[in-house]
Amino acid sequence: MNTLEERSEAQAAALHYVRMGGVRERVAAVLARTPGGLGRVLDIGTGEGLFALAVAATGAAETVFGIDPHEGCIVNARRIARHRELEAVCRFEAVTLDRVSDDFDTITLFLALPDLLRGIDIDPLFESVAARLAPAGRLVIAGGFPESAGDATEALGFALHRAIGYVLPTRADVQAALGRAGLEVTEHRSDDTGAEPIGPREMAEFLLRENSYAMARGAAAADVSGIWDDLGPAVMQAHGRARMDARIDTLVAMRM
Ligand SMILES: C[S@@+](CC[C@H](N)C(=O)[O-])C[C@H]1O[C@@H](n2cnc3c(N)ncnc32)[C@H](O)[C@@H]1O
Repeated sequence: MNTLEERSEAQAAALHYVRMGGVRERVAAVLARTPGGLGRVLDIGTGEGLFALAVAATGAAETVFGIDPHEGCIVNARRIARHRELEAVCRFEAVTLDRVSDDFDTITLFLALPDLLRGIDIDPLFESVAARLAPAGRLVIAGGFPESAGDATEALGFALHRAIGYVLPTRADVQAALGRAGLEVTEHRSDDTGAEPIGPREMAEFLLRENSYAMARGAAAADVSGIWDDLGPAVMQAHGRARMDARIDTLVAMRM
């Protein structure tokens, strides 16, 4: 493989995260069909606001409030909102949930749960989320669940995330924790993102990038080369190819 091809494969992987095969827009369009609309929406772990903005663009939300502790992401989210002329509906703040006192009709966690669970256990997280949900409100959790891996390349995608510190509960774990918080899953959909497989070079880049990202947020440096060695058998089993974020499962939960 020549350098240009390697570069374009790495760029395709980064672009995949941004585009996600249009799944953010597809999930937002399905949510937008909720009778009576989505009301006041809170997007937790909003990052650069990609899902929050997809929801706002449907016109089904009264307001969308995106929160993320990472100031840099919030600056970008505000910039993109302005560019897409959605700033009248969308607001972004660099805060965590404990600083939010309003109630919301819709709370969303898009690809955010494994990151949040690095710093908080699932039960206290869901308890504080449920406390911010209006009585007839809905909680939307979208992301990959490890038991949905269709083959060794998708399983390796999950193994890479787990190896670098993301906490990946199974769908059954999430449903059980929602139940303990007084919520039950009323809808479930699964979307294929069309992720292209990546090779060892892009996997190593992913580990290094995620390690820098976690360190920038105060985590201790990980032993990336040790992690890479431990992943050896899984890499061999997947013939050196991984599919990251290949499938997004969306759960909608409401009060029991
Ligand atoms: C994968 S990213 C964002 C995905 C984003 N929702 C999207 O659609 O592109 C997960 C985000 O969770 C954020 N995060 C981590 N811990 C958090 C917390 N306690 N509260 C809110 N956000 C948190 C991280 O800063 C990160 O930006």
